[in-house]
Amino acid sequence: VTVDVDPAAYDAGDHESYMHKEMLEQPVAAERVLRGRLDDRFGTAHLGGLNMDARDTRAIRRVKILGCGSAYYVGQMGAALVEELARIPADAEAASEFRYRDPVIEPDTLYVAVSQSGETIDTLLAVQEIRRKGGRVVGLVNVVGSAIARECDGGIYLHAGPEVAVASTKALTNMFLGFALLALQLGRVRDLSIADGKRLIAGLARIPEQIQEILDREAEIGEVAQQLADAESLFFVGRVRGYPVAREGAQKFKEISYRHAEAYQTSELKHGPLALVSEQVPTVAIVPDDELTDRNVGALHEIAARRGPLVVITHEGVDLGEVQCVRIDVPRNERELDPVLLVVPLQLLAYHAALRLGHDIDKPRNLAKSVTVE
Ligand code: G6P
Repeated sequence: VTVDVDPAAYDAGDHESYMHKEMLEQPVAAERVLRGRLDDRFGTAHLGGLNMDARDTRAIRRVKILGCGSAYYVGQMGAALVEELARIPADAEAASEFRYRDPVIEPDTLYVAVSQSGETIDTLLAVQEIRRKGGRVVGLVNVVGSAIARECDGGIYLHAGPEVAVASTKALTNMFLGFALLALQLGRVRDLSIADGKRLIAGLARIPEQIQEILDREAEIGEVAQQLADAESLFFVGRVRGYPVAREGAQKFKEISYRHAEAYQTSELKHGPLALVSEQVPTVAIVPDDELTDRNVGALHEIAARRGPLVVITHEGVDLGEVQCVRIDVPRNERELDPVLLVVPLQLLAYHAALRLGHDIDKPRNLAKSVTVE
């Protein structure tokens, strides 16, 4: 796939910011990362750029994902996909920390570097450290021919098109989808059944229009953001698949609204942070329809009992009991793919909070789009 986007011709057009334009481009961008890579016949993904044959792929015993900022959080989502679909132990780590702990590099581990720009120095140096020690690294990179893309043994280009706003939106969506493709391919040379492969392919094909459905509700979600914008401090909580979603939601919120936003595992609330919940401290809770819904709803009661305002990102039909909250329902897909849809309302919440506060959305204070010096 080649993507014809002329960066010079890429401006914000009628949008008040690049972030807004880039959020709205997500359905089209998502189609591009999937195009030509879904094999419905065998229920698998085609990722020629990985430069790995079936034998190499089967030899992988562990997957280690490295990225910074949003790329790190989506890396956590990716690790969950790899474990669920391929049953290979996987985890994500902040690339900025990795090389400082003299990491053990194993020949049967697949290292994955995730980066929109492909120029983040921390991620690049992690890649160089791994390769110096003989490890195999593949990149999930947006910018073609960037330093990280050149340094890796192979990779998956994200085809999101240019991303200008510091707060990543369409690149992040495509990173998630890139991980889904990778996990599908790793899974299908192992024990993932063809039926499950086909189920996930059908799910992936629905994602672009489902993102569009959420974006179409921007006005409604923007209203909710007005209520959050005035809080000095907020919690974002989720469990298992929902936890990296919460981390990404908090990251976006603090990046552009400058509010203190802290992510926690919902299960950990009672081990400390609940002490801070009050009328002044809202919580945004990720409560998908999954095996943890009932436990999540229990935690919502705990928050509501302390009069903490609640915004719940959930699925239609999920019974939240009597809990007083504002709910935002996202479309249903396969459970494994839920995070990519749950994250979209969080982008809109951060964006509209920042807009209300009058901040420079594309260039938040103290931050750079890509950090290329140590
Ligand atoms: C910077 C940006 C973040 C971004 C991170 C990783 O810190 O402020 O928004 O997530 O870099 O960037 P990358 O280009 O490697 O994805």
